[in-house]
Amino acid sequence: MAFIYDEPSHTFSEYLLLPGYSSAEHTPNNVSLKTPLARYKKGESSKLSINVPLTSAVMQAVSNDTLAIALAQEGGISFIFGSQPIESQAEMVRRVKKHKAGFVTSDSNVRPEDTLADVLALRAKTDHSTMAVTEDGSPNGKLLGLVTSRDYRLSRTPKTTPVKDFMTPFKDLIVGDETTTLPEANDLIWEHKLNQLPIIDKAGNLLYLIFRKDYDTNKDNPLELLDDRKRYVCGAGINTRDYEDRVPALIEAGVDALVIDSSEGYSEWQARTLAWVRDTYGDDVIIGAGNVVDEEGFRFLAEAGADFVKVGIGGGSICITREQKGIGRGQATAVIEVAKARQKYFEETGIYIPICSDGGIVYDYHITLALAMGADFVMLGRYFARFDESPSNKVHIGNSYMKEYWGEGSARARNWQRYDMGGDSKLSFEEGVDSYVPYAGALKDNVQLSLSKIRSTMCNCGALSIAELQDKAKLTLVSSTSIVEGGAHDVTLRNADMDGSNHL
Ligand code: IMP
Repeated sequence: MAFIYDEPSHTFSEYLLLPGYSSAEHTPNNVSLKTPLARYKKGESSKLSINVPLTSAVMQAVSNDTLAIALAQEGGISFIFGSQPIESQAEMVRRVKKHKAGFVTSDSNVRPEDTLADVLALRAKTDHSTMAVTEDGSPNGKLLGLVTSRDYRLSRTPKTTPVKDFMTPFKDLIVGDETTTLPEANDLIWEHKLNQLPIIDKAGNLLYLIFRKDYDTNKDNPLELLDDRKRYVCGAGINTRDYEDRVPALIEAGVDALVIDSSEGYSEWQARTLAWVRDTYGDDVIIGAGNVVDEEGFRFLAEAGADFVKVGIGGGSICITREQKGIGRGQATAVIEVAKARQKYFEETGIYIPICSDGGIVYDYHITLALAMGADFVMLGRYFARFDESPSNKVHIGNSYMKEYWGEGSARARNWQRYDMGGDSKLSFEEGVDSYVPYAGALKDNVQLSLSKIRSTMCNCGALSIAELQDKAKLTLVSSTSIVEGGAHDVTLRNADMDGSNHL
């Protein structure tokens, strides 16, 4: 006979935290949000920890190299979407690993034989006034000089003048080399009153430009997540079909952590994928698996060797799995149950397996609730899709700007591997929608605001770390009537923007 749970499953909005005692030490500045990403043995520490408990979803509309860099700068990790050819996914990872904050690949380049007319046309296109003059006009060609707006006079210099006649030639440039660090580059910029510093390799080829105007932002990432070679940390999604080709390509590109991206993780396919990774690489590769929503699913993946387990089925904002297939569980209940299973497993084996609450975060406080319920970090799709750095288009609708956001199970993404049950390799029905989300600006500003709310709530709960929050938190279910009480009520709002909601 079927097993039927007596209790309904609940979602985040049905819970609240109760405050605990906070001492004078409990200030947001003293809170650490560092959290483990990979399994570890009691008494040891995780091979990879992230500095803030945020990861970005394995989705075309969310996690590309640009977003991965922006999130690593704030201390989190992106999982670059896997629903693309292996080589293009590996190239995205490579770009993250190669990216050096402040070191910019020159996007406006000319050849010495080009003319002032070409320079002006390029300037109109890129809006950049600094141009590298390279032998072949490529961003990494041999550097012959620089052109800035100080090198020509629009009213006097004929438009047909070749670049080589008015550029600042290489012999007059101050340049850095492959060993130049960002602080050294900034010192050169200040000493020589430069606006930009080219960095070249031993053969004289241009590698990067460093700009004076970026000086402040370059200093400003105290939580950035770097590997031991000071490169940004980057994850990537894989599937249970082509892992024998995809995993080596991603590792070769420098990926730091993998995750099997699937709507349903309690399957032989995931166990086979994990077994192949462990047989091939031992414990050297960090790989998470999921998604599951109960103890059985968690234990299966833990025993199959997952480094972390993702929790959540049907709660994602673009997700219609529950409507289409009748499968899922309220996200809060799923996290609570899996966290209990993790604790039991830890007590039995001495192995701690971090869990990730994936999908369904609507308000910033949902992140704090997920952590308090036992999640070590969360995965967010809609949240990140709204920012400048996400890969999707920004569109003007009515009076506002929106960003496009579509599910991996939508006809647009056609990520059939995510929903693969073996057999036919095609998406026979959709499990996700194609939608818009309100455009919200830069990732940095939004993430910092969200984290400040999380730190503040943690202080109210008397917790200075996520582990302490998990230990001390007191949570209560709220009745539907008291949910109404949670928003502004029984008042007439003066300003539509102050609708009392902190909707992300
Ligand atoms: P969100 O943060 O609520 O937008 O949820 C993002 C999560 O939804 C992802 O990390 C996936 O686990 C899940 N997801 C992504 N695409 C789909 C889809 O098409 N259908 C169902 N779930 C999806």
